Amino acid sequence: MKIITSLPDLRAARLSMQGAVGFVPTMGFLHEGHLTLIRRAKAECNHVIVSIFVNPTQFGANEDLSKYPRDLERDLNLISALEADAVWTPTNEIMYPKGFQTWVEVDAITRPLEGAMRPTHFKGVTTIVAKLFNAVQPQRAYFGQKDAQQAAVIRQMTRDLNFPIEIIVCPTVRETDGLAMSSRNKYLTGEERAAATILFRALSAAKDLYEGGERNAEKLRIKMREILASEPRAQVQYVSCADYDSLEELDVIQGKTLLSMAVMLGKTRLIDNFVLG
Ligand code: PAF
Repeated sequence: MKIITSLPDLRAARLSMQGAVGFVPTMGFLHEGHLTLIRRAKAECNHVIVSIFVNPTQFGANEDLSKYPRDLERDLNLISALEADAVWTPTNEIMYPKGFQTWVEVDAITRPLEGAMRPTHFKGVTTIVAKLFNAVQPQRAYFGQKDAQQAAVIRQMTRDLNFPIEIIVCPTVRETDGLAMSSRNKYLTGEERAAATILFRALSAAKDLYEGGERNAEKLRIKMREILASEPRAQVQYVSCADYDSLEELDVIQGKTLLSMAVMLGKTRLIDNFVLG
């Protein structure tokens, strides 16, 4: 497996690859969710490139970039065991050269949910993902369903900018008690970790209502809020029942629907979602 930092080295490695290239962009500190994306890329593509870059521009002023967990050596061992062809670990200077002033922004679907809570987040995500796509030029790129709005925003950006890239969104990988895997789970104290299953329980209760025939979106939102309120440590930021593609809040559930939520447990912000229909 090649470990690459510079852009010319990445381009040379990319040029040497024939057939379909699958790309898994990450911010490192890999967990089973990331490894599932790499395995899927490996199964579907001739070559796999993984990037590790903790992107400063997607962190808000009040979000501690310097505390984001990192363990490059462990990450490289995990990726190498899955036999990816290359790992690209660009520096800040490569991705944001001195005098940088070009941004990629997606409009309406970046405004609700995560966008409302983290107003500068998606501008950072779409800018870095566009730059990564330009450099890697993959045929397919793999993202986790856990970051449902990110996946929707990237699908939109890929369509709007005519990137010839298929966006593949893979199911959320969960711990045995239902907690969605996330690099941020590491921040939870023992008691917060136990309380964190409340997100899965709230989503499951709403899904049960849906499967029982309920199509009133507000009833599902009320059910999720009710369950979350039963956990005193959980501070709800939003609960949503929205159209899967546009992310507009629904009155009546018809097609593919996204149930989603963001909850603070102590200082840790957790998000999770289920797709209905
Ligand atoms: O999902 C992530 O880890 C990041 O948002 C991504 C897509 C790698 C961009 O920095």
